[in-house]
Amino acid sequence: MHPSSGRGDRMIIAQISDMHLRDDGILLKQKIDTEVALENAIGHINSWETPPNAILVTGDLVQRTKRQNYANLRKKLDQLRSPYYVIPGNHDNRTLIREHFSDLGYLPESGTFLQYSVDTGPLRLIGLDTMIPGENKGEICGKRCEWLQNILHEKPDQPTLIFMHHPPFKTGVNFLDRHQFQGSELLANIIEQNPQVIRIVCGHLHRQLQVSWAGTIASVSPSIAFQLPMALETDADRGFSLEPPACPVYIWQPDIGLIAHMSLIGDFGGLQPFVSDPIV
Ligand SMILES: [Fe+2]
Ligand SMILES: [Fe+2]
Repeated sequence: MHPSSGRGDRMIIAQISDMHLRDDGILLKQKIDTEVALENAIGHINSWETPPNAILVTGDLVQRTKRQNYANLRKKLDQLRSPYYVIPGNHDNRTLIREHFSDLGYLPESGTFLQYSVDTGPLRLIGLDTMIPGENKGEICGKRCEWLQNILHEKPDQPTLIFMHHPPFKTGVNFLDRHQFQGSELLANIIEQNPQVIRIVCGHLHRQLQVSWAGTIASVSPSIAFQLPMALETDADRGFSLEPPACPVYIWQPDIGLIAHMSLIGDFGGLQPFVSDPIV
């Protein structure tokens, strides 16, 4: 069975975020081999017995918007055993994403924004484009909101997950909140009117967190390349962290709803047998 067709009413979705891929052999921030990081993430997901029904690739796909980086990314993502869906982050270029991923059939053929819905399983997936070219911060403008409102009105009763690069909410960590998301009230109004949106998943902050927002649950995925610290007591951006990369795994089951797991990527020694503790 093709993974996108769903196994009964159950659906498994993985998210990989913020790969910042560069292909020139130069280590990102002099520390991170982004090619290896992406290969590790792909190998990790491919090692699961059950391939996910969909993999959400939530932006900052490449570090620099060079054609070569996107070609390399495409080659690598094609090794996944599941259909994958890309959306742009602030490091990306819409034209180059179109050039390299349009043939997969889900990106809009015309218009500025790379937003779309995936209607292949019991859980509907909607990708939003929050990019402002040349800027770090994200936005959802009137035009993008109108599109979202229309597409949500098409299926008001179908459970829906929205994926987007920039979180539209605050995190409580000042240095993560320094770039204010534009249009968050507009978006919040739409989400509040559409209770079928059971989850919003984002990237950009390179740190796992969850928040209750606009009547739903919203979250940020860790990066598969590098993390930002949980610096609660400072406004300063003190650097990045080499905490383990990870990918969220969402399981949709109609009798339970949506369950979010986190799968750490790395060699942690494999499964250990349960053995009795020595009696002393
Ligand atoms: Fe990023
Ligand atoms: Fe970003």
